Amino acid sequence: MNNSHLIKTEGLYKKYPMGPTTLVALDNVNLNFKKGEFAGLVGPSGSGKTTLLNILGSLDSPTEGSAEVLGEKVENLEHKEAAKLRNNHIGFIFQTFNLLPVYTVYENVEFPLLLQNISESERRLMVMDALEWVGLSDRADSRPTQLSGGQSQRVAIARAIVKKPALVLADEPTANLDAQNSHNIMETMVKLNKDLETTFIFATHDEKVMKYLRRKVYLDDGKIVKDEVIKHELSKE
Ligand SMILES: Nc1ncnc2c1ncn2[C@@H]1O[C@H](COP(=O)(O)OP(=O)(O)OP(=O)(O)O)[C@@H](O)[C@H]1O
Ligand SMILES: [Mg+2]
Repeated sequence: MNNSHLIKTEGLYKKYPMGPTTLVALDNVNLNFKKGEFAGLVGPSGSGKTTLLNILGSLDSPTEGSAEVLGEKVENLEHKEAAKLRNNHIGFIFQTFNLLPVYTVYENVEFPLLLQNISESERRLMVMDALEWVGLSDRADSRPTQLSGGQSQRVAIARAIVKKPALVLADEPTANLDAQNSHNIMETMVKLNKDLETTFIFATHDEKVMKYLRRKVYLDDGKIVKDEVIKHELSKE
C-alpha cells in the first residue's frame, strides 16, 4: 500500500431493503484520504455520514464496491480481522461518549489497551499521557457520572487516542457540548493531528466543528456532491 494513502473507496454502495423498494444510503462513493488529513463528512441528516464512517471503521460493510482502509479491504474482512484492524489502528469517538459508567476515568481510557499485550506499567504511562492530552489527569479516579458533558467527551477522546491510532473517526463529537467545550475539544484534536500526524475524519453538521476542517466532503442522499479543500490562514500547506 502507498503509505500516504490511508483510505480509498471505489464504487461504494450501501443499500437497505425497504419493503418493495430499496433505500440507497451510500450511492457510488469514490473517495481517498491521505495520512494526516483533518477532514469532515458533512451534509444533512440522513445523507449517509454515519453509514460511511462506520464502513471506514470496519464496523459495517458495503453492499457493493470496495473500501480499503490501512491496506485492508473492509468488505473482505472476517469479523475477527475487522476487530483486529479496529483495535490496532482506529480510534472511535461516538456522539454519545459510550463511557462505561461503573469504571473510573482511568479504567475507561485503559480499556482499549486491555485488548493488546501491553504491560500494566506501560499502560499507566499511556493512559496518563492521553489524559494529559485532554487536560483531565486530575480526574483519573472520577467516574463518568461525576463529570460534565464536556469532560465526558474529553475522556472519550482520550480513550480514542490512547493507542496513538493512525486514524480517528469521530461521529458528531461536539453534539450536546457548548461552544467553549466544542472549541477546546477541536483544539485538542488539531494538536494531535499536528503533533502525531493522526488522521481525523469527522461526521458532522456542526458549524463549530466545520470551521476547523481542512477538507469538507459534502454528502447528499448518499452521494458526494462536493469535495472541498480549505486553506486556513495559518496553514503551512
Ligand atoms: N440499519 C438501517 N436500516 C435501514 N436504513 C438505515 C439503516 N441505517 C441507516 N439507514 C438509513 O440510511 C440513511 C443514511 O443514514 P445515516 O445514519 O448514515 O445518516 P447521517 O448522515 O449520519 O444522518 P444524521 O446527521 O442524522 O446523523 C438514512 O436514510 C437512514 O434512515
Ligand atoms: Mg449520523
